[in-house]
Amino acid sequence: MKITKICCIGAGYVGGPTMAVIAQKCPHIQVTVVDLNEQRITDWNDPNTDNIPIYEPGLSEIVAEARGRNLFFSTEVEKAINEAQVIFISVNTPTKTYGKGKGMAADLKYIELCARQIAKVAKENKIVVEKSTLPVRTAEAIKSILDNTGNGVQFQILSNPEFLAEGTAVTDLLNPDRILIGGDTTPEGEEAISALVDVYANWVDKEKILTTNVWSSELSKLTANAFLAQRISSINAMSELCEKTGADVNEVARAIGMDSRIGPKFLKASVGFGGSCFQKDILNLVYIAKSYGLNEVADYWEQVIIMNDHQKKRFSSKIVQTLYNTVADKKITFLGWAFKKDTNDTRESAAIYVADDLINEQAKITVYDPKVSKIKILNDLNYLETRSAEENHATVSTFANAYDACKDAHAIAVLTEWDEFTTYDWQKIYDSMHKPAFLFDGRNILDAKKLEAIGFIYNGIGS
Ligand code: NAD
Ligand code: UGA
Repeated sequence: MKITKICCIGAGYVGGPTMAVIAQKCPHIQVTVVDLNEQRITDWNDPNTDNIPIYEPGLSEIVAEARGRNLFFSTEVEKAINEAQVIFISVNTPTKTYGKGKGMAADLKYIELCARQIAKVAKENKIVVEKSTLPVRTAEAIKSILDNTGNGVQFQILSNPEFLAEGTAVTDLLNPDRILIGGDTTPEGEEAISALVDVYANWVDKEKILTTNVWSSELSKLTANAFLAQRISSINAMSELCEKTGADVNEVARAIGMDSRIGPKFLKASVGFGGSCFQKDILNLVYIAKSYGLNEVADYWEQVIIMNDHQKKRFSSKIVQTLYNTVADKKITFLGWAFKKDTNDTRESAAIYVADDLINEQAKITVYDPKVSKIKILNDLNYLETRSAEENHATVSTFANAYDACKDAHAIAVLTEWDEFTTYDWQKIYDSMHKPAFLFDGRNILDAKKLEAIGFIYNGIGS
C-alpha cells in the first residue's frame, strides 16, 4: 500500500511540527492538519510564517516551504478524514480534572471523540495512528469504537508515539533517535506497519525504525518520559544534599555523567521540570500501576513527582528566607516564564508555581520572557485559582526587555535557561537594583563568581 494522503487531527505542538516535517520530506504525500480550534488554524495559515502559533527554531522555514504545496491546515475535519488513507490522532490527553482518576488518569475524551468521528465519516479502509501519548491498551478502546460505530470498513490501529522535545522539535524530527511503530501481528497489521515505515523511510534510516506490538509501543512512550523525568528528580534530590554538604551539583553531574553507563544528558539540576507531559505521563503511569494493584510500582514512580514539587517549593522558600524572611511588597523579577528555552510553551512551567508561592507572600512579580506574553502569564496564574484574576493582574507586571524589568528589583530569579540571559551587561542590571541585590539562578546558567564580584548575593541550585 502506498500512502499519498495523510490527515492529522490536532494542530498543536506535536501535530503541527510533525506534519510539517513529513510534508517537507515527502512532497508526494498530501498532508492535511485539522483542528476544531479555528484561531489555531487561522494562525497556521498566517501569510507571514513567523506568526504561526508555535515557536520552534527552524519551523517557520519548513512551513513556508511546504504550506500550500502539500501541507494544508484546515478546520474541515470530516473532509480531511474522508480523503486520507492514514489518520494520525494528535490531540491533547491531559490529566483528568473530574470523576474517577481525577488528578492522575489521562483524560481520553478528545481521543474518543476522534475515534467516533473517524468511524462516522470513513467510507473506505483506513489506518488510524495513535500519535498522542496514551495509556497502555488504549488501542483496544479505539478499535472497539471504530468497529462498533463504523460503516463496516476495516481499520488498522497503529501506535506511533512522538519523542520530540519542545525547543528542539525540528532537529528531533529530522534526526530522530528512533521511530517507534506498534501494530497488530496479523497480515493486515503488518501491511499497515510497513506502509507507515515507508513514509518515515523517506528521511530516516531503516535501522532506526523500530516495530513492536501495539502495547509495547504505547507503554514505551510512558516509560521513556518516566525515565527522563526520573533523572531530573534524581539530580535535583542530590542538589539539596549538595547545598548542605559543600558539594557542587554541577561537578557531581559532570563526574557521574562521564560514566558511559550513566551518560551526560538530563543531569542538569534545576528549579524543577515543567512541560505538558512529564508530570501528566508519570501520573498516568502511577494510575495504571495502581489500577492493576501494583502499589509498589506506583509508589516508586510517584516519588519522581513528589521530588519535583518539593524542588519548586524549595526554590520559592529559599527566596523568602534569603530576603530576610519577608518578600511583602518587594519587587522580584523573573527572567523567563517558559518551561524551557526556545519555546513559547508555559504549560506546567516551574515559574508558575514559584510565582504563586511568592504572591502568597505578597511579593510583586515582574516578568521578562522573550517569547511569552502577559496574557499567557496571567492565564497561567488564574488557572491555579489561588486568588482572583483582578488580584493577579494587580500583582504581576511584564516588560519587553530584561533591563527595564530588573530596574528597582530587590531580587532576580532565573526561571528559564534562555541563552540571551548569559549575554547581559550584569553590572548595568546590578546598578539599577535595590541593594543588597539578590540573584536566584534556578537554572545554574550564570557565572556565579562574576556576579559575586559585581556585588550580587548569588544563589544557584545545588551549590
Ligand atoms: P496541544 O494541546 O498543543 O494540541 C492538541 C490539539 O488538538 C489542540 O489544538 C486541540 O484543539 C486539538 N483537538 C482536540 N480535540 C480535537 C478534535 N476532536 N478534533 C480536532 N482537533 C482537536 O497538545 P500537544 O502538546 O500537541 O500534545 C498532543 C499529544 O502529544 C499529547 O498526548 C501529548 O502527550 C503528546 N506529546 C506531546 C509532546 C510535546 O512536546 N508537546 C511531545 C510528545 C508527545
Ligand atoms: C519531553 C521529552 O524530552 C520528549 O522526549 C517527549 O517527547 C516530550 O517530553 C513529551 O512527551 O511531551 P519536553 O517536555 O518538550 O520533552 O522538554 P525536555 O527537554 O524533556 O524538558 C522538560 C523539562 O525538564 C523542562 O522544564 C526542562 O527545563 C527540564 N530539564 C530537562 C531539567 O530540569 N534538567 C535537565 O537535565 C533536562
